[in-house]
Amino acid sequence: MRRLLAVLLAAAVAAAPALAVVVDAEMPPDVAARWSTLDPTKWSLPQLQSALPLLRPPPGFAVGLYFNASLVDNARSLAVSGASKHPGGPIISYVSSTKANKTYALVDSDGDGSADSLTVVLDGLDTPQGMDWHDGDLYVTGWDEAGRGIVWRARGIDSYALAGRRFPNSKLEVVTNRLPSARWHGARYARFSPDDGLLYVSVGAPCNVCPEDRSPQGIVYSTIYTINTTNGDLNLFARGRDSMGDDLPDDKLQM
Ligand SMILES: *[C@@H]1O[C@H](CO)[C@@H](O)[C@H](O)[C@H]1NC(C)=O
Ligand SMILES: *[C@@H]1O[C@H](CO)[C@@H](O)[C@H](O)[C@H]1NC(C)=O
Ligand SMILES: *[C@@H]1O[C@H](CO)[C@@H](O)[C@H](O)[C@H]1NC(C)=O
Repeated sequence: MRRLLAVLLAAAVAAAPALAVVVDAEMPPDVAARWSTLDPTKWSLPQLQSALPLLRPPPGFAVGLYFNASLVDNARSLAVSGASKHPGGPIISYVSSTKANKTYALVDSDGDGSADSLTVVLDGLDTPQGMDWHDGDLYVTGWDEAGRGIVWRARGIDSYALAGRRFPNSKLEVVTNRLPSARWHGARYARFSPDDGLLYVSVGAPCNVCPEDRSPQGIVYSTIYTINTTNGDLNLFARGRDSMGDDLPDDKLQM
């Protein structure tokens, strides 16, 4: 977990679009830091390091620079290979970039807590935003060439990451291509549950106040679906909305 937080920082730094650190005097420093924007192409290492104390990790966590990810254009999502468990062994973190249509592998080959190489493992996919690693394979959300919302599977991805090679697009498997085509709020995040082994995927609504509540294929907007990655079954898990902060009304789960 320590390492994951460090990766997060490097990616957040890489993802931020603008130059200034916006520190509002009204905000506590940790909140101000969340609202800050840092551009690693314009900031020197000492400047970045001087901004780190603004981030206050919970007890037991440390924050530091994991990799100079200035080559990762607009990092959006992270997944750490579950094979990265052997002490001193390689730790592989996957980073998606929707702007570049690429997925990168960051490899910390000696397990010392900072990554030493960056490889493009997936390229030419349409908006590969959400990802997760499960049982040796990387799952990635995006759109296929026909514009259908898709989840791909790259089997045995770690061997490509460790060899510094790209995974061929011809070897990608389709887990499902029934997710909505709509692009507005359409880029998805994805995570496996350790409890049930299902992949949980967000489905945004293609508008702010929608007349229609589902895609033409019947996938309900503003939801989380579970996907059985063996047979592609989709099930509506939860409906909700964002921008509520902690003021969430009682919600319901679709079980
Ligand atoms: C990261 O690398 C870029 C380009 O190689 C360089 O301009 C920048 O100063 C580096 N940033 C840090 C924090 O080392
Ligand atoms: C990403 O892929 C989509 C679909 O092919 C394309 O429209 C878009 O221009 C691509 N973006 C980049 C940066 O290549
Ligand atoms: C997915 O569905 C298959 C039946 O097609 C079932 O055997 C398997 O347990 C399901 N996987 C999960 C993670 O529920």
